[in-house]
Amino acid sequence: MNSNDKQILINNKKFKLLIGAEEIQSIIESMAERINTDYHGSEPVFVIILKGAIFFATDLLKNITLLCRIETIRAKSYGKSMISSGNVKINLELDDLQGKDIIILEDIVDNGFTLKALTDHLQKYNPRSVEIAVLLSKPEMRKVDLRIKYIGKDIPNDFVIGYGLDYAEFGRNLSEIYTLEDK
Ligand code: IMP
Ligand code: MG
Repeated sequence: MNSNDKQILINNKKFKLLIGAEEIQSIIESMAERINTDYHGSEPVFVIILKGAIFFATDLLKNITLLCRIETIRAKSYGKSMISSGNVKINLELDDLQGKDIIILEDIVDNGFTLKALTDHLQKYNPRSVEIAVLLSKPEMRKVDLRIKYIGKDIPNDFVIGYGLDYAEFGRNLSEIYTLEDK
């Protein structure tokens, strides 16, 4: 079987390959290069959104040459469904962010409620700047006005899994990204 034909089955839903592992790595390497240039001379704080962004964040951060700090935040909006709820729960305990350049690392932006809630929340810590880096974006889904400085790749509206992204908590450990086949 050709790896492009590989299908993933989770709870009777079929997913097919959308973005291969090599393409993901090259997207991430270019993004890291831009961040290294843009933040030259700064000591940014990367805020990783758990759990989805863990794969993206670790691969990106290995390519970051800046002196930097890493923090994590837990945010939830999907639960067990495939529809973003818009009701974002944030769990966080962060060290001092006053005067810092923050870069939020997120797996995917859909309607934008999660990142909007997080950026608004982080502003309360009086950072110098708050920017966003996402691996994937579904631009047609956006419901809030959000400035995203780094976007790895725009994708269609379909539900995706893999490389940190889950369907009902399954599929995060896949090295590639897969899209829902039959809707
Ligand atoms: P937003 O608040 O609608 O932008 O949703 C963003 C969050 O929903 C992300 O952090 C993901 O956890 C989740 N999400 C959005 N789209 C997908 C998808 O296609 N697959 C898996 N999770 C998704
Ligand atoms: Mg997420």
